[in-house]
Amino acid sequence: PTNHHWHQSSATPEQTPPRSQTLCTRREAYERAFPLYKQPVEVGCFSLDSQRRFFNDSRQMRYYVEPDRSPNFDLSDGYRGRYVKRDENVKEKLDHILRWIVANRSKLKSKLSPDASCPLDFDFVTWRGHLTKLLTTPYETREGWLLAVTRFNDTLYISEVETEAARRERENRPERNQEMMYWGYKFEQYMCADKTYSEPDPSGVVNTNEAFCTVVQTRLTDHKLLFSGEVDCRDKDPDAPPPPACYVELKTSAEICTPKQRSNFHRFKLLKWWAQSFLPGVPRVVAGFRDHDGIVVSVETFQISKISQLIKNEYNCWKPTVCMNFCCDFLSFVKREATEDNPSVVYLFSWEPHKDVTYSVHRDSQYSFLPDWYIKEMTC
Ligand code: A3P
Ligand code: MG
Ligand code: MG
Repeated sequence: PTNHHWHQSSATPEQTPPRSQTLCTRREAYERAFPLYKQPVEVGCFSLDSQRRFFNDSRQMRYYVEPDRSPNFDLSDGYRGRYVKRDENVKEKLDHILRWIVANRSKLKSKLSPDASCPLDFDFVTWRGHLTKLLTTPYETREGWLLAVTRFNDTLYISEVETEAARRERENRPERNQEMMYWGYKFEQYMCADKTYSEPDPSGVVNTNEAFCTVVQTRLTDHKLLFSGEVDCRDKDPDAPPPPACYVELKTSAEICTPKQRSNFHRFKLLKWWAQSFLPGVPRVVAGFRDHDGIVVSVETFQISKISQLIKNEYNCWKPTVCMNFCCDFLSFVKREATEDNPSVVYLFSWEPHKDVTYSVHRDSQYSFLPDWYIKEMTC
């Protein structure tokens, strides 16, 4: 019964079925009890400044400011003239996380000795965003993914590779979509202050190089995880609970006017929002609902812990347990298949909607992503 989601070629009932080199992504295969997911613990943070430079501190932290009842934020304001866009052609891979690990290695305990960080006591190191993609895979019908995996000192590093389709889409993004991408960042500027005692400054520049990232550790069944994710802002109350419980995720979405729009919001938007914030233990999403011209007409708070209740009445809706069980089984699949411990070997896991996950192996290729400085620093 434990192998029910594996594709089996020609198993006879008496034999253990042969292990498949592919992983099924059908929802029905992952409908079982919710797996153990330990409460995520923040182990550190880092900041990326207006020039995308790394700092091992919280200098880019912003503070949530409760908006007016009817806000009227114009999300297009500043799109031409006060917008510095991060260069999406620069592929940073895991570099910022690796810099954080090197800077904080004395704080991280090792598998072998509690005083050293070699080897790291984690099975997986990755970005939260990559795990979000895994969680939503059983429900994704449009965009596939490529995940490069390298085993080094018995830790599996997972770094996304942009698919050809995603690159084409990015390079041919219509002007309207470009502007709508800006809207999400502009909303953050209306909602956040730089200091606990200051107010948001919508007259400033929106610079998407800037980021504050949390680094959390947790466990999904027998997988010890270390991952980092960008955090939009935190509760400014000094009595707020410690991170990640004080963090607030900000989102924008089209205003909901019809039952059909509400249903789509529950079925597609809330899945993405839930997956992204559940992983690092961020408890709430504050959503700005905007009209077709990018004017925010209302703001609503969603508690992540209440989202599964909210969607239960939707026909054929997504289930948190399917998301988590698929992620868990994918990580088990990676552990089992990516066996060669070698920083220049990449196992490239590939998925397209309506297909199984497959992989290929690459030596000293364009896909290698662990930098020499990291390998040198972590070779003890
Ligand atoms: P919205 O999600 O409110 O539209 P995040 O919410 O994850 O902090 O991201 C901030 C904003 O970045 C998003 O705001 C959106 O504008 C933009 N963004 C993030 N991921 C994106 C993606 N995959 N495609 C397009 N825009 C994206
Ligand atoms: Mg963000
Ligand atoms: Mg956000």
